[in-house]
Amino acid sequence: MANQNWSPEEYRTKAYFVHELGLPVIELLAPKEGEKILDLGCGTGTLTKELANRGCETVGIDESPDMVAAAREIGVDARVHDAEHLHLDETFDAVMSNAALHWMADQYAVVRGVWKVLRPGGRFAAECGGEGCIRIIREGMKIALIKRGLDYKARNPWKYPELGAYSKILENQGFKVSYIARIDRPTPLPNGLRNWLEVFANSHTQGFSQEERESFFTEVENYCRPMLYTEENGWLADYVRLRFLAYKPQNA
Ligand code: BEZ
Repeated sequence: MANQNWSPEEYRTKAYFVHELGLPVIELLAPKEGEKILDLGCGTGTLTKELANRGCETVGIDESPDMVAAAREIGVDARVHDAEHLHLDETFDAVMSNAALHWMADQYAVVRGVWKVLRPGGRFAAECGGEGCIRIIREGMKIALIKRGLDYKARNPWKYPELGAYSKILENQGFKVSYIARIDRPTPLPNGLRNWLEVFANSHTQGFSQEERESFFTEVENYCRPMLYTEENGWLADYVRLRFLAYKPQNA
């Protein structure tokens, strides 16, 4: 995961909507009481806890020690682990992931790892950013970085897979894809775009002074405002989701 510093406190106060909007992936997973479920990229553990509240045995993994500590504080069995190198000595009935896969560079490695930890018949339900996600915000950041002579590609931490390409990755691994959709989901940013950038644009602003960060954020806001802001709705981020459910066959 590229140069992103996670602050659980900032995430809880400024990006709480990420988890609130994660409920559809739980509905798609349809967890049953007693099932053992791995939450891949669990963050502060809010959705992992939701699964536990529904009677599941849960484990959450995240690359960020601070996020794992925050998840443990709310009682989640959370572990620091890299999802691109998944080695766990246990198997699961299901793997769930919300708003995490697009931070991981090698989706082949992630899907291979998920396959390994699932029991035959197990399922993989996930939602992440899909092709075209936050295109306008990314354009704003790209223009502001180029203006500073900086390499946008090297600083961009996100990969937003296409539906067809992701289906192929799953199927080539042996999964049966039972549902996959690309969903436009304009997302209200209740605390505004600047707060969103403060939480998520660490990698883009690496090495910036506080003053440089502020002027970068102002430029991105100014670029995005005509397209993403209205008096009526406030800021609406141009999110696109990729949501899917896939099975590891019983005979695998
Ligand atoms: C997303 O869920 O697509 C997303 C979340 C945070 C930063 C970038 C994208």
